[in-house]
Amino acid sequence: MGTQVEIPCPSCGHGNRADRRFCTECGTRLGRACASCGAPLDPGEKFCGRCGASRTAAPSSRSTAHAPRHLVEKVLGSRAALEGERKQVTVLFADVKGSMELAEKLDPEDLHRIMDRFFQILSEGVHRFEGTVNQYTGDGIMALFGAPIAHEDHAERACWAALHLRDALVRYAMGLNSGEVVVGKIGDDLRMDYTAQGHTVGLAQRMEQLAEPGKPFLTEHTAKLVTGFFALRDLGPSRVKGATEPLRLYELEGPGRLRTRFDVSRARGLSRFVGRTAEMAVLDSALERALTGRGQVVGVVAEPGVGKSRLCYEFIERCRARGIGSFAAHGVAHGKNIPLLPWMELMRNTFGIEELDSDDMARQKIAGRMLLLDPGLHDTLPIMFEFLGVPDPARPAPPLTPEATQRELARILGRLLPGRTRRGEFRVILLEDVHWFDRVSEAMCAAALELIPDTPTLVVLTFRPEYEAAWLQRSAYQRLSLDPLSGDALAELLRDLLGTDPSVTGLADRLCERTGGNPFFIEEVVQALIETGSLEGPTGAYRLVRSVAELAIPPTVQAVLAARIDRLPEREKEVLQTAAVIGRELPEPCYGRSPSWRRASSPPPCSRSSRASSCTKRCSTRRSSTPSSTR
Ligand SMILES: Nc1ncnc2c1ncn2[C@@H]1O[C@H](COP(=O)(O)OP(=O)(O)OP(=O)(O)O)[C@@H](O)[C@H]1O
Ligand SMILES: [Mg+2]
Repeated sequence: MGTQVEIPCPSCGHGNRADRRFCTECGTRLGRACASCGAPLDPGEKFCGRCGASRTAAPSSRSTAHAPRHLVEKVLGSRAALEGERKQVTVLFADVKGSMELAEKLDPEDLHRIMDRFFQILSEGVHRFEGTVNQYTGDGIMALFGAPIAHEDHAERACWAALHLRDALVRYAMGLNSGEVVVGKIGDDLRMDYTAQGHTVGLAQRMEQLAEPGKPFLTEHTAKLVTGFFALRDLGPSRVKGATEPLRLYELEGPGRLRTRFDVSRARGLSRFVGRTAEMAVLDSALERALTGRGQVVGVVAEPGVGKSRLCYEFIERCRARGIGSFAAHGVAHGKNIPLLPWMELMRNTFGIEELDSDDMARQKIAGRMLLLDPGLHDTLPIMFEFLGVPDPARPAPPLTPEATQRELARILGRLLPGRTRRGEFRVILLEDVHWFDRVSEAMCAAALELIPDTPTLVVLTFRPEYEAAWLQRSAYQRLSLDPLSGDALAELLRDLLGTDPSVTGLADRLCERTGGNPFFIEEVVQALIETGSLEGPTGAYRLVRSVAELAIPPTVQAVLAARIDRLPEREKEVLQTAAVIGRELPEPCYGRSPSWRRASSPPPCSRSSRASSCTKRCSTRRSSTPSSTR
């Protein structure tokens, strides 16, 4: 029997033999340390020999767990508007396993210090993905992603946080579940009261209780939102306390193959591409100009789900058919605080680095390409190796801040692009979801765009309408705004999706009206009708077998709408909420009666959010920004 006392590492949680001075997993010093300055303490010492702090003065775990300032400001700045709202969230529970055992083996001070460090790691992991720690559960935490501030990718963020914590804290078991909560009072520390709908929180806790350390468990509700983005192991259906029906459980194994929601659409099978003839013509003529050596930049702008990625995908396919190559990079919602993530992706694509390439192979590809374009770049190779995560042990790069890295990369780019011009190489560069690029990446884009007019390049950017960037005001830049699909295109899409059975005719009309011609919303609602058994038959030849009194808005769409509404200025949000109660038709006399609109000096500022509101105006719950159904 292993009765040996294990000392958990305060940094990674690894259990070490009692005689160890340093953690055998991560090298952290294991001896007792002053809680104030970190200096080592010998047994029997009552005060720290370096700073004089009392050995028994326990630091507070909660004091180390502050949320980052930008998150606090964001939440507290709109606290009043957030309270009372329904939110789609993912709940994460993390709890240390064997804490009783630890408590028996360690003296209380050491235990306290270790738990403090654990709490700090937990909080940092949650905040890194913009979740909030809502509750301390003795040895663990309950965290929320998607509330108080809504995130359209709340489930992905929670899974990234779980993977991050799994790697940082080996002793912790974790459980996740997604569903709806109603936000209650929000405290100054961002903790909030909430009302869980349908056991949203209870099921997450149950998952944590079932999970083993290192193997986060999630319910089918979360799995549905992250399939493809993460590798999941299906554990089959299980009877879980709190759920009336058996629930499918999954283990979160690691990152998956898909990066964006459009990747998910492609994996599911794309519907027939409809409409967009005029928009495609704009891209085609920009391409022709760029092919003559006058570099062009086109910004494709539209609200979520309207079809930016699809248009670009079809355009890139047309380019490919003509033998014109392309490189792409994407912004991701949780990557806004990670410097240069999209540029890393772009550079890896540019150099043709594959997932399975060894470091050595990757370095060969980078060096081969860079030196081909400009032999003078030899000295900068270590910087590029380091940046792309394949440092050369024989030639390490000097340590650089993100800003210095940006300067160096801009310098390298300033030589690579002319190198390509000299060789007459033409490329289309697609930068998707620029609204999620971090600041350093934006600055890099600005620097790169200065060079584009003199190079044979077409840069296509996609972003949402609220994104504004000074760096886009260039002569070579043109904006291409996409409207939702309408008329013939919409009818064709619905025919392709649903088919022509008489039972679906009325449904197609209602879908058109309720989704405002947003193809993403249409596809998600149809998918939900298939999953709930209302639609039967093969794709494109469905029959409506159950009449649908209400078209439920799927959680994916609700999360997108809520995230957009939360980003509106408070006054616009209030107007939208009032409109949600009044409904689609607004009698003129009502106009001046609403307190929020009376305060407005101009007509209700709905225009910026008209699409988002097309599905929200039917809401009957007071202050609910994410409706659960539309009639
Ligand atoms: N013209 C179209 N014809 C057929 N399907 C379309 C069309 N435009 C978009 N779709 C489909 O609608 C879904 C959403 O489109 P897409 O991913 O391009 O939206 P988006 O504007 O890029 O949204 P986001 O801002 O969230 O990235 C996809 O499944 C896509 O295939
Ligand atoms: Mg897109």
